[in-house]
Amino acid sequence: MASGRIRRSTPPVSAIPTCRDRVVAPSLLAADFSRIAEEAARAEKAGADWLHLDVMDGDFVDNISFGPPVVEAVNRASGMFLDVHLMISRPDHYLPRFVAAGADVITVHVEPRHDVGETLRRIREAGGLAGLALNPATPLAAVAPFFDSIDLLLCMTVVPGFGGQAFMPEVLGKIREAAALRDAAGLGFHIEVDGGIDAATAALCAEAGANVMVAGSSTFRAPDMAAAITAIRSA
Ligand code: DX5
Ligand code: ZN
Repeated sequence: MASGRIRRSTPPVSAIPTCRDRVVAPSLLAADFSRIAEEAARAEKAGADWLHLDVMDGDFVDNISFGPPVVEAVNRASGMFLDVHLMISRPDHYLPRFVAAGADVITVHVEPRHDVGETLRRIREAGGLAGLALNPATPLAAVAPFFDSIDLLLCMTVVPGFGGQAFMPEVLGKIREAAALRDAAGLGFHIEVDGGIDAATAALCAEAGANVMVAGSSTFRAPDMAAAITAIRSA
């Protein structure tokens, strides 16, 4: 089995802003997979802060995307900070392979059966930033016990599995509550949103307390990707 530390035990300082900074992370799921390296370069040139990579296993979600070899190829082709979102049933089992592939943030879901605290600990031990994701239907209480063990909380704003779905405004209350709990506890983890994000919905999420905006369709499929990213950053 693959093992080892994450490529950059100290990622570039510019890639690790604070939870008060806006981060725009285009999702490669909406890119042209036949030209993945060029697509990563296009996002970087258009001003993306991070690149979001959606790993789907056909079990935790009803879709299959790509696995460690593609993450590794993107890592080789691009110097960008890689935000890897694992939508898989056995995140603990596959973790070392994504570490070896060069993920910088590794986000696991709270819903599948694994020792969540231990998985998060292992991500940090490997030198990565530890992210924890929850689906729209999952209550905040499921992730709150791990708040002091995470670098990023991903509040899904669609049911995960597919790009191009409509933003679910009912998640905004959960984002607001998560930000309030974080601030009251004096913690500094990022709050990321993912699903149906464009300039309009990013503004709603930012107002609720999110700072990392994942956007697939609205960036990669925009006529002007740089303008789309700028609009999300300033929303
Ligand atoms: C959905 C994925 C998202 C997806 C977002 O399950 O986690 O990252 O790429 O796509 P858009 O921005 O098109 O909703
Ligand atoms: Zn995602």
